[in-house]
Amino acid sequence: MTNVTSPGEPLAFPPGFTWGAATAAYQIEGATGADGRGPSVWDTFARTPGKVRGGDTGDVACDSYHRYAQDADLLRALGLRAYRFSVSWPRVFPAGGGQLNQAGLDYYKRLLDALQERGIAPAATLFHWDLPQALQDRGGWAARDTAFRFADYAAAVAGALGDQVNRWITVNEPLVVAHNGHRIGVHAPGVADNAVAAAVTHHLLLGHGLGSAAVRAAVSGAEVGITLNLTPVRVAVSANGSAEALERARRVTDAALNGLFLEPLLSGRYPQDAPPAMLPPAELVRDGDLATIAAPLDFLGVNYYSPAHLRAGDPDNLRRGEDRPTPGVDGGVVQYQPEGMEHTPMGWLIDPDGLYELLLRLSADAPGLPLYITENGCAAEDYVNPDGQVNDLERIKFLHLHLAAAARAARDGATLAGYYVWSLLDNFEWAYGYQKRFGIVYVDFATQQRIPKASSAFFAQVARDNCVPALPAAWPV
Ligand code: FCB
Repeated sequence: MTNVTSPGEPLAFPPGFTWGAATAAYQIEGATGADGRGPSVWDTFARTPGKVRGGDTGDVACDSYHRYAQDADLLRALGLRAYRFSVSWPRVFPAGGGQLNQAGLDYYKRLLDALQERGIAPAATLFHWDLPQALQDRGGWAARDTAFRFADYAAAVAGALGDQVNRWITVNEPLVVAHNGHRIGVHAPGVADNAVAAAVTHHLLLGHGLGSAAVRAAVSGAEVGITLNLTPVRVAVSANGSAEALERARRVTDAALNGLFLEPLLSGRYPQDAPPAMLPPAELVRDGDLATIAAPLDFLGVNYYSPAHLRAGDPDNLRRGEDRPTPGVDGGVVQYQPEGMEHTPMGWLIDPDGLYELLLRLSADAPGLPLYITENGCAAEDYVNPDGQVNDLERIKFLHLHLAAAARAARDGATLAGYYVWSLLDNFEWAYGYQKRFGIVYVDFATQQRIPKASSAFFAQVARDNCVPALPAAWPV
């Protein structure tokens, strides 16, 4: 349907388009013991043997807690006018609630002053996965009370920083928190329990709703949204298997990956097609919850990395490149990696058409709602060459293809308002530790030296021109 991978003409973005880079607190700040910060679930998880590759932790990370001014300089040098960062809840409320830690808040004031001095507009994410451990000890997101504690925290942060921050993101990727953190246990807090994951799903959404209201009450004119990781689901129709089974599988997978969050937010209901085990049980969904969750968004944050592909197959007899489908999908369907498509070192398929389709679908489902790509980017096996440069051609190609897809989507009617690349800096990539590098700026973790990669110059040029150059007929190797 689209043709983003062929060479073409340069494509302009809409006037006033936001160009920025994104990071998250636990991934870059380090200084986990500084100025009264309390422990988060990620401190605990990273210290649990076997959970994070190589035993890496966020204790030092990029030391951005101390080097924030240098990092703001990097943004300025690239000509980026927007920065998405997250606030660490345990810096502000070391015990989750109760006594506020002014020193923790002051860090964000310093950061915001630095951004303001450089003409960089902030977008603050309130929850990018670092739940205070004290709240986890009381049940974490499985407990309804955590949604209310989140609203208190949101009110405190918005009250303190609202004169400097207008764009607010409540929660980052609730699916990943529910699924990776509570259904399969590969992220903090390391729980593997379907019922817990279903409760966490509802309480994160409720927290978003209550938190949004709190930010709006504290900051007049605030733009408030949420960031979802969204995964277009594509099917390969073939002579094998039934077309109806494949379509049913597509609907169930789409509900599990996207609808479980999109539908409550946009329509105030959980999707009918979702696997029953993923849905919060009725007794958890109290009167008024769905109305709170579905309060109109000012924008939707979209994180896009990769689509899911389905085809007919036998989940009990997987062939090369195949995987079992989402639990709840039946009828002889498997997930698979189409042959001939490239992957990043994360094993994620590179499929820019998926971004194009996603943006158009969202614009049709939520007409007029501004969309910001709040994350897109790739890991690459970056190294500093003997000339002291990081020539990350793979990332340039990835960005070029995805920016072209985004520009086409905007041209074809998607309500796309901005793009924040993931990430400004190489950082602590959760369970992968420091092995996977996503930055447009290289970080030497031994010295904390920052080296802008070749991709940062490419991205800066796109941002400056508000236009993505024509795709080359052949990629340099
Ligand atoms: C997303 C996370 C972000 C980063 C990227 C690679 O799921 O939101 O923190 O780790 O993936």
